[in-house]
Amino acid sequence: MQHTYSADFESPSNIALVKYWGKKPGVQLPANPSISFTLDKAVTDTSFKVFSKNSSEKYDLHFEFEGNPNPAFKEKLIKYFDKINAEFPFLTEYKLEISSSNTFPHSSGIASSASSMSALALCICDLHEQITGTSFENFHQKASEIARIGSGSASRSIYPGLVMWGEHQDYDGSSDFYAIPFNTANQVFMGYHDVILIVEKGQKKVSSSAGHSLLEKHPFAKQRYETANVNMHRIKTILEDGDIDGFIEIVESEALMLHALMMASTPSFILMKPNTLAIIEKIREFRSANKIPVCFTLDAGANVHVLFPDQYAIQVMEFVQKDLVVYCEEGTYFCNRIKLPDLVL
Ligand code: PMV
Repeated sequence: MQHTYSADFESPSNIALVKYWGKKPGVQLPANPSISFTLDKAVTDTSFKVFSKNSSEKYDLHFEFEGNPNPAFKEKLIKYFDKINAEFPFLTEYKLEISSSNTFPHSSGIASSASSMSALALCICDLHEQITGTSFENFHQKASEIARIGSGSASRSIYPGLVMWGEHQDYDGSSDFYAIPFNTANQVFMGYHDVILIVEKGQKKVSSSAGHSLLEKHPFAKQRYETANVNMHRIKTILEDGDIDGFIEIVESEALMLHALMMASTPSFILMKPNTLAIIEKIREFRSANKIPVCFTLDAGANVHVLFPDQYAIQVMEFVQKDLVVYCEEGTYFCNRIKLPDLVL
């Protein structure tokens, strides 16, 4: 009998406030807990179709990214499927057709692994339920766990709002295996904006997996993990109290520490560009001159995320356009806000 199943999911990117950088032994377990804002506009849409299989190859997989076959991504998918196939046998038992696209340009310098792996994990969990006729006890938790195996930060993209991943005594139900939503933040953070300034387009200079492994023999690894745990402790109260000054202090320090770790590793990497530093200086000047609580964070690259509460959106956007866009490659920037949970009416 001919069987066809299909799943289609959208999933967003996220930006970490306390960063995950370094792994514990095991299948993609974090050396320290992390917390992020899920973004509302930087989204991957994945459609996954499953048909009866005729081929004898282990995976009968056709993969398209933005309408074109993409052999490099297909290779990555096969490696990922090898890791989860024991739990999801349909991946080898059926013919698979996957097509994926992003709402942000692929080589814009915005990391796409979080949104793409989380969209894929949601499809895989949904198809598993359809094919086996069973339901996971907690669908989103399972999707987060499967997303994590593809890309650690993807575990956090399964949920809107603020999301934390990694075991920490202050966060009930936290786990190294999956992310959990952090639902007790003050409303001020629920209106936050993230304007992503593209200082440098193109692929990352250091892949995430190479970056994480730099921590294995890093002279500051122990101190880093201790600091991240302390920052997770502090940021919980800061988020709950709506303490924006405390937020700025931790978020900027986390961003700079991520880069400091890379600068102090062997081999070493300087991922900031002169324009990254120029933007950071301008943000700090603007903040102190205008008493407007805007701050920055960074990914493992040169681009700058500008974070600010909604009540200052007009002034900050004027500042971005007047003083910061000149430092962006071809003037490129993307406006996001924290993605809020869908309203259930
Ligand atoms: O999920 P990965 O392996 O791409 O690692 C993400 C690492 C950072 O983006 C730098 C920090 C984070 O917590 O998202």
